[in-house]
Amino acid sequence: MSVFNASRLLGKTVLITGASSGIGAATAVLFAKAGTNILLLARREDALKTVQQACVAAHKESGLKEGGQFAPIQLDVSDKAAVSALWSKVPSALRNVDILVNNAGYVIGKDHVGDIDDSIIEGMFATNVFGLISMTQLLVRDFKAKKSGHIINIGSIASREPYVGGSIYTATKHAVNAFTASMMRELVNTPIRVTEIQPGMVETEFSIVRFLGDTSAAKSVYAGLQPLTGEDIAEEIVWAASRPPHVNIAETLIFPVNQASAVISYRAPS
Ligand SMILES: NC(=O)c1ccc[n+]([C@@H]2O[C@H](COP(=O)([O-])OP(=O)(O)OC[C@H]3O[C@@H](n4cnc5c(N)ncnc54)[C@H](OP(=O)(O)O)[C@@H]3O)[C@@H](O)[C@H]2O)c1
Repeated sequence: MSVFNASRLLGKTVLITGASSGIGAATAVLFAKAGTNILLLARREDALKTVQQACVAAHKESGLKEGGQFAPIQLDVSDKAAVSALWSKVPSALRNVDILVNNAGYVIGKDHVGDIDDSIIEGMFATNVFGLISMTQLLVRDFKAKKSGHIINIGSIASREPYVGGSIYTATKHAVNAFTASMMRELVNTPIRVTEIQPGMVETEFSIVRFLGDTSAAKSVYAGLQPLTGEDIAEEIVWAASRPPHVNIAETLIFPVNQASAVISYRAPS
């Protein structure tokens, strides 16, 4: 028995949404190191190609023969027609997906209820909830037919805990939590696994997106503490995916050591 045996992943095919940056990109590189093939999905094609190159390098460095096929696919998960037509863009060698990582998601702003733009509300639900559901519907049909598969949804501390200025984002992540938990119950009589990974503060493009490109506002979110990195969460995802087939990591909550809830953290005085 090894401490962390990822050999079960050799030759598997993983589909990752939101693979162009942050947690998704780091997860792709770690899966590449573990000898998988990967479908890399996001809206930004150039960023996806950069991640594809990082995957090629990581796979080469691993020296593994298995895996090593990486396909960047431009896709907006909130576009239902595009999700339905996904298979037309997937190379046939990568059509048999084993693991779906539903990671695409974002938050915009911290406005209070009453002041939130409808387009922001609709956009967050369209990606974080409806996009995740559309992708899951598409893949779970195949998983049921072949009686195997693993769906890993990226929730958040916001899946558990509402906070001031987070009404819409926490509502979307609570929805992810309810959807994931219901699906796990529905699939209890199958070998299909369902996992929700719930990160706390991770320094990625997340806060830059939240504050509409204001990098100093984004940086201030992590002032005085050491946040998690995309690689930290990638390790949790790849670990969950590589457990023995009879083990299902249902939920994991991961904080930086100086965070204890959505709003409680210790910050070293500057
Ligand atoms: N960072 C944190 O503190 C934190 C904490 C808890 C949970 N999370 C969750 O972790 C996940 C990843 O976030 P991150 O921190 O890695 O942020 P990030 O660096 O901003 O990455 C978000 C990813 O989602 C993609 N994306 C956004 N909307 C999309 C859409 N409509 N269709 C397809 N792809 C879309 C983005 O790519 P494109 O722009 O190229 O489409 C990007 O690849 C999100 O679900 C987020 O809610 C993050």
